[in-house]
Amino acid sequence: MCGIVGYIGKKQAAPILLEGLSKLEYRGYDSAGIAVRDGDQDPAVVKAQGRLSVLVDKTDGGRAVPGTCGIGHTRWATHGEPTETNAHPHASDDINVIAVHNGIIENFQELKDKLLRNGYTFQSETDTEVAVKLIDYYYKKYQVGPIDAIAKTMVRVRGSYALVVMFKDYPGEIYAARKDSPLILGLGESENFLASDVPAILDHTRKVIYPDNYEMVRMTTDIVEVYNLNGDVTEKPVTEVTWDAEAAEKGGYEHFMMKEIHEQPKVIKDTINSVVKKQEDLYTLDLSGCGLSDDEMRQISRVWIIGCGSAYHVGVCSQYVMEDLAEIPVRVELASEFRYRKLGLQKDDLVIVISQSGETADSLAALRKAKELGISTLGIVNVVGSSIAREADYVLYTLAGPEIAVATTKAFSCQLIACHLLSIGFASAAGKIDNATVQKMIVEMLTLPEKVEKIIEDKARIQWFASKFAHASDAFVIGRGLDYGIAMEGSLKMKEISYIHSEAYAAGELKHGTISLIESGTLVIGVATQPDLVKKTISNMVETGSRGAYLFAITFSGNYYLEDRADFVTYIPKTDPHYAASLAVIPLQLLSYYMSVNRGLDVDKPRNLAKSVTVE
Ligand code: F6R
Repeated sequence: MCGIVGYIGKKQAAPILLEGLSKLEYRGYDSAGIAVRDGDQDPAVVKAQGRLSVLVDKTDGGRAVPGTCGIGHTRWATHGEPTETNAHPHASDDINVIAVHNGIIENFQELKDKLLRNGYTFQSETDTEVAVKLIDYYYKKYQVGPIDAIAKTMVRVRGSYALVVMFKDYPGEIYAARKDSPLILGLGESENFLASDVPAILDHTRKVIYPDNYEMVRMTTDIVEVYNLNGDVTEKPVTEVTWDAEAAEKGGYEHFMMKEIHEQPKVIKDTINSVVKKQEDLYTLDLSGCGLSDDEMRQISRVWIIGCGSAYHVGVCSQYVMEDLAEIPVRVELASEFRYRKLGLQKDDLVIVISQSGETADSLAALRKAKELGISTLGIVNVVGSSIAREADYVLYTLAGPEIAVATTKAFSCQLIACHLLSIGFASAAGKIDNATVQKMIVEMLTLPEKVEKIIEDKARIQWFASKFAHASDAFVIGRGLDYGIAMEGSLKMKEISYIHSEAYAAGELKHGTISLIESGTLVIGVATQPDLVKKTISNMVETGSRGAYLFAITFSGNYYLEDRADFVTYIPKTDPHYAASLAVIPLQLLSYYMSVNRGLDVDKPRNLAKSVTVE
């Protein structure tokens, strides 16, 4: 995700900002920028697309931008392409207010319309520019100070943010606000710092304050004040950071994969909120951002879902949901196969290509093939401005933020959500589900982040199990229907990071040959969530159990009768069975993670693998 650094003190700010931003590079970004004030002069703003080194060159290592007060940002594009115009900082036209921002302003369109009506104009496509101009609007309209103007803005803005702001009339001061996006304050001697993450300031200070949600900050060279929404100063404890720099990059987690597993509740919520809107008491799905109209959705006669690896597994899980809700035939194909086959695609088909990176060579080639055949294409992509995002006719972005661990977790979860949203959208546009069902499904979808959180909180049990089975040489992950798709993902995770030979099987298929591999102690993981199939999957598990397999079951809480059949049961909170993959995948991610750790492997960079596979 984006990175923020702020500095105020007696030293030159720009080199400190650039150095701080370099410590946040691991988070991923596609452009960067700084704003530095020299006394009461207007801030000098420099931005650059691409690597931070471009910004360093442009500013002569910061020397070309004098001043002792400044803010800096590395941007991971969410609203608008990764261009210099969209890079932060953003300012009001008269540079009265200038700010950097992490997070997502969900109601930015509504706020932008309000500001347009009040004579504001916009240079960028970002939600940040809207927030900046809203602060400026309240500041001028009510003739209030910075804290009041920010507080009024916070009341109007929905979404997540860490905002760091400078006001023309307040030289030598930096302001900030946060909700659901990280922000820390670093305390020095006659200097103070702000950052989105500890590594950015660790070379300067280990004394930090963590502002809470809905708190604001005023910072000078010698003063750090934290305010609540009423504008009252609140006492905040000062914490001593004891992590080393490497641990700090991982937010205190031992590996990026674990950090990303923990980020899932938030990114799932962000992805849902990018499409789901609430008007009065009713939820609506607004897919206009991806370009698909209701009419276009109604005309789709068949859907193809294409991807590689985990993205393909998202397709396998989602086909059951889409077929069931929208009653559209869905075919799921591996991109590397799809591109070389004559599959009889027809004009009313829609080809959905799922890709975290948006650069996977086979997925891109599959997309191009569909386009050559004149078929409509929709990309479900995480990286804004990537090749698949640029070339697809329609794009639905997942808001997972940068994923650093090679094995995908949070991007997978967001891709699933994107497919759920499309399934509901297609079904509702075609009149296959009524509005009451849409409401019910959205309300349930909004509970998923909390349910994922609950499963993660219970990780110690999985950790215990992993230590017991870390030396397994073979595992079978089985399930039927949608559970088979989950099994495929669980099995891939185990192979790629734990190096345990593992196979995913449609549970009913085992007895047609593979069951001969089952022997005493073989690990069989059964995913049993789909109400009409649970009993059948359990029978298949029991068949392997009676041949000596150790049975690990994943099922919804309430299915307690599994206790008598399996050796180890993990319960996931109840949800609409269409959403089962979003929950059942979490214990499987955790299991592979802990097995990998137990085996002493390189969790984040497994052998022979690359994060983005740009070769065929
Ligand atoms: C597995 C994994 C890979 C990717 C696959 C597609 O954990 O990460 O299987 O899912 O390489 O990558 P993207 O989504 O970038 O197209």
